[in-house]
Order: sequence, then C-alpha cells, then structure tokens
Amino acid sequence: MKHGKTVTLAIESSCDETAAAVVLDGREVLSNIISSQIEIHKLYGGVVPEIASRHHLDNVNTVVDQAFHEADITMDDVDMIGVTYGPGLVGALLIGLATAKAYALAAEKPLVGVHHIHGHICANYIEHKTLEPPFMALVISGGHTNIVEVNDYNDCRVLGGTRDDAAGEAYDKVARVLGLGYPGGPLIDKIAKEGNPHAVEFKRVFLEKGSLDFSFSGIKTGVLNYINSEKQAGCKIRVADVAASFQAAVLDVIVAKTVGAAVSMKKDKIVLAGGVAANSRLREMLREECKKKGLALYYPSPILCTDNAAMIGCAAYYKYIAGGRDDLGLDAVPSLKL
Ligand code: KG4
Ligand code: ZN
Repeated sequence: MKHGKTVTLAIESSCDETAAAVVLDGREVLSNIISSQIEIHKLYGGVVPEIASRHHLDNVNTVVDQAFHEADITMDDVDMIGVTYGPGLVGALLIGLATAKAYALAAEKPLVGVHHIHGHICANYIEHKTLEPPFMALVISGGHTNIVEVNDYNDCRVLGGTRDDAAGEAYDKVARVLGLGYPGGPLIDKIAKEGNPHAVEFKRVFLEKGSLDFSFSGIKTGVLNYINSEKQAGCKIRVADVAASFQAAVLDVIVAKTVGAAVSMKKDKIVLAGGVAANSRLREMLREECKKKGLALYYPSPILCTDNAAMIGCAAYYKYIAGGRDDLGLDAVPSLKL
C-alpha cells in the first residue's frame, strides 16, 4: 500500500461497543467495524460492566480482523495504533488497551492513547472534511455532558460538565421510569415528537449564574414524582407528553449554555458529539439558535455519534503528527481528564 498517507489501526472498547477501524490521515475511513452489546445489556436495563468486559474479550480480535479485511490491508501497512485509554469502564478499557499493546509490541508499531471525549469531538473531522478548529464543542453521551473549548486539534479545554448524571443517563433513566425500554435516548426522541413539550413544566436547572455546569439527577426525581402524583389522583399518564416535557426541560438548558459559551468565547462554530448528539430535537433547537446568532453548526451522522473506533483513529492521528506517542506501560484511566 503505497500512498504516503498515515495508516491508523484504531481500537475502542470503553463501554459496550467493541470497535476497530482503519483510517487514512485521520479523516478517510477505510473500515469502521462496531460490535454492539446493546441487545445483551437490554436484558438488564443498562450496561453491566463485568458482562461488557467478557464480550469485549470475546469479540475484539474478530473486530480487528474484520477492520483489516474490509480496509483490504494487513498489519504491515499500519503506521501506528490508536486506542482509547479513558474515560470509561476500567475492565472494558483494559481489553482494548491490552489488544492494542499486543499488536504494537508484536508488529513494532507506535502506540497512541486517545481520550474518549477527544475521539467523539474528532468524529466531526471525519464527517466534515473542511472543518478546522477553533470551535465550541458539546459532548453529550451516556457517560458525559461537557462543553469543551477546542482551540486546536490537540488543544481542548473543558468549560463545564455535569455534576451528577450525564444527559444520556437522564434520558435512559427517565425512559425506564416511563416503561419505554433501553437505551432510552432514541425512544424518548421518537415518542416526544407526538407529545406536548409544555404539558408538564419540569424545572430547568441552570445552577449559578455564568456556570457552564449541568445537573440532571433532579429531573428523574421530578418525572417520578409527577407520575406518582398523577397516578394517585387517578389520572392517566400521557407518556408522549411527559417525554416531550422532560426533553424540553433538559434541552432548554443544554442549548442555552452551549450557545452562550460559543458567543461569550467568540467562537463562530458549534460542534456536537456523542450519542445524544443524534437527538433530533436537540439538533433542531440548536439549528434555530445558531441561525439567530450567526453561528455554524456541525454534527456527525448517527453512526459516528455513538461509540466507534474511526473517531479514535482520527484523534490518534492528530496526536501522532504532533509527536504524541505512548509506551507499553500506558494504563487504563477510568476517569481520565481531558
Ligand atoms: O456515545 P454513546 O454511544 O456512549 C457513551 O459514551 O455513553 O452514547 C450513548 C447514549 C445513551 O445514553 C443513549 O440513550 C443516548 O446516547 N442516545 C440518545 C439518542 N441516541 C442515543 N439520546 C437522545 N436522543 C437520541 N436520539
Ligand atoms: Zn462515547
């Protein structure tokens, strides 16, 4: 394979997706294989860490083989190996990391550790070929809710984050309370379209003035209390209305803070990342607000929003060309800071 481009083999296993990808020069995806465990964890209503680790172990080599096969390359063609080393479930991270290290050692290739959130942001470079920093990013998933100032490819500064539940976690918990199933985000997204977002006025939690932090744990209790009091009063629960009202309360805060951060930090672009970035109402609200403020809005297609290894390959590439290398002592860091 002679093209002068940097070939990255990337591995991601931080939560419940075992993923491997081959990426050229960070932005050109030759393969992006994802083995999802959602069907297994559905039985338990959420990700069970021990089970996730076992499935990563069972699947990781197959997923890497498939990534090579689909990209039509071999290990000889690879220039470096990118891998997520945090944040995430420690047992899950360790499987991907140990695999990456084993390939790096056996094939004598450089190892580049990637921060999972940085990977989510980088999904946008794959989707939008001309996108460049600086911009304001909103990283919003089952594990994270962060507003991140991105000044350069390797220069990210977290301006705010959740103090308790992540936004995706709130979606998943409320969906469970409403009896919708798991994962709850896409189910609430769908049913909320048929509901009235003003049916129930759930509290919008903005925290202290100027804060870019979030708190979503209260809204789950708010929804539970509402359901209980309605039931006690003998009223029928309109699931679509509750879902739409919950979503409106969460998204009002997220959209206001993200747009506010972009304006105050003089960024003219907002970039969405993470599983919840697939939410149709979030995109719609941000589109409207960005239009009003003259900001450009970017988000990846759904397959690049949720966990995947192509985004890890992209992040690894930008670290690698800046001279970033990790040794085989690299450890999994479950609560890795950006
Ligand atoms: O990024 P991701 O695949 O995994 C983590 O790193 O957490 O995100 C998964 C999360 C889940 O909480 C899921 O419910 C949520 O993203 N999600 C959504 C939508 N699609 C996925 N939340 C709201 N609306 C959606 N359309
Ligand atoms: Zn993620």
